Amino acid sequence: MQLKHLEPFRLSLEKLKVVSTRLRKDMIRGLGKHTHHRAAVKMLPTFVRATPDGTEKGDFLALDLGGTNFRVLHVRVMEEEQKMVKMDSQLCAIPQEIMLGTGEQLFDHIAACLSEFLDSQNLKGQTLPMGFTFSFPCEQKEIDKSILIRWTKGFNCSGVEGEDVVKLLKEAIHRRGDYDISSVAMVNDTVGTMMSCGYRDQTCEIGMIIGTGTNACYMEEMKNVKRVEGEDGQMCINTEWGGFGDDGSLEDILTEFDKVVDRTSINPGVHTFEKMISGMYLGEIVRLVLMKLTEKKLLFKGEVSEALRTKETFETKFISMIEDGLENAKKILTELGLTWDLVDARVVRLVCETISSRSARLCAAALATIVDRIRVNRGLPHLKTTVGVDGTVYKKHPNDELQKAMHFLTPDCKIKFLVSEDGSGKGAAMVTAVAQRLALQSRLLEESDGEEDEEEKVRS
Ligand code: GLC
Repeated sequence: MQLKHLEPFRLSLEKLKVVSTRLRKDMIRGLGKHTHHRAAVKMLPTFVRATPDGTEKGDFLALDLGGTNFRVLHVRVMEEEQKMVKMDSQLCAIPQEIMLGTGEQLFDHIAACLSEFLDSQNLKGQTLPMGFTFSFPCEQKEIDKSILIRWTKGFNCSGVEGEDVVKLLKEAIHRRGDYDISSVAMVNDTVGTMMSCGYRDQTCEIGMIIGTGTNACYMEEMKNVKRVEGEDGQMCINTEWGGFGDDGSLEDILTEFDKVVDRTSINPGVHTFEKMISGMYLGEIVRLVLMKLTEKKLLFKGEVSEALRTKETFETKFISMIEDGLENAKKILTELGLTWDLVDARVVRLVCETISSRSARLCAAALATIVDRIRVNRGLPHLKTTVGVDGTVYKKHPNDELQKAMHFLTPDCKIKFLVSEDGSGKGAAMVTAVAQRLALQSRLLEESDGEEDEEEKVRS
C-alpha cells in the first residue's frame, strides 16, 4: 500500500547517516566552552564521575519528578546480593493546574508528599542521603546545585527556569518546618537509568529514555568536557538530545505534521527532535495524518468524527495497540466515533507503523552517534557496550527496527540493551551511593597520603 502523505516519514538508512553526522557535530558544539551557549544539543555535565562498581550499599531516599506523577522511594542497596530493593514508595499525582501553576505551588506539593511518606515510614527523625531524579534540562554546577534551563514535556511552572531546584525544594521544606533533609544529589532520568542498570551490568555506560520525552546520557572523557575543570577520568554527560534540530538543522526531515505539533505545543520551537519521537507527541502526529487522509477522502469516506477532530484524543498507547492487531484497530476506531471498513483499519495500522518506525529509526541514529563517539574516544576498532533503557514507548514497541538501524549505522559496535526496572527512582539512590563511595575512597586516600608524609618526616 502506497500513500504519498506517508512518504516524508520514511527515512532511508542513508538519510539516518546524515542525521547522525549532524548530531555528532552538534554534540561537539555542546561540549565546547565557547560554542556551548549557542548549541541546540546542550551536552550538560552531570558531575557523576563513575558508574557503580558493585561495592555500594546503604539506605537512601529517592525523589522522582518527570511525568505526571511525583514519587518518593525508600531504597536499600545490598552489596552482598548486588541488588537494589525498593523498601516502599508513594505516588502523588501532579494535577495539570500544578504543572502549569507557580513553582512555589509545585515544590509545596512535593514537600507535602515527601512529608506524608516520611511519616508513614517513621523516617522523620533520620536524615537519609537523598537523590532527586528531576527529568528536565538542568545546568549543574555541582551534584547538589542544579539550575533549570527550561521546562519540557507538559510542565510550565513559573519562577523555576533559571533557579536552583535544590534551593526551591529546601525552601518549600523550610516553609513547612516539620522535617529537614541533608544533601541532595540531582539526577536526570537518563542518568538514573544508566546507574541502576550499571549496578547489574558494570559495562553499562549509556542511559536512554524513550517515554513521554526522549533523551540519553553517556560517560564522556573529562578532557573533552571543556566546561568543567580537570582532564582526568570521565564524567556522565546528559546530552538533552531532545533539543536536536532547535536551530533548524532538521528542517529537511520535518513534515508538515511535525510543524503543526510544534506550533500547537506549549513550547513551540523547543525540543524539535523529541517531538518527532516521544510518547507525548506520537499520538498527535498520527491523529493529524488521519485527519489529512480523511480530508483527502482516503479514509472513513471523508467523514471525520468529533473525537478525531479534537487535539490529543488519539493517545500514543493506541499506536502500539493497533500495531499489535487489526482487531484492536477496529475497537479503537469505533471508540473514536468513526465509521470504518476493513481498508480503513488497514490504512490506520499502516499510519501507526510508519510513525512509530520513524521514531525508532531516529532514536537509532542518535544512539549510534553516542556509541560511536565512545568507540572513537577510546581509540578502539570495535566496542562492546551496554545501554540501559527505560520509557513506555521503548517498552511497548517491538524494537527490531531500532536494532536493525543500529546494526547498519554502527557495524563496529556490539550493543546490549538492558531494560531498566524503576531506573529513574532507584537510579537516584545509586548516584548518591556512588558519590558516597567516591568520597570515602578519597578520604582514605588522603589519610594514607598523610601517613606517608609522616613516615617521610620520621625518616628524614
Ligand atoms: C525531556 C527532558 C529530559 C528528560 C527526557 C526524558 O527531554 O528535557 O531531561 O531526560 O525528557 O524524560
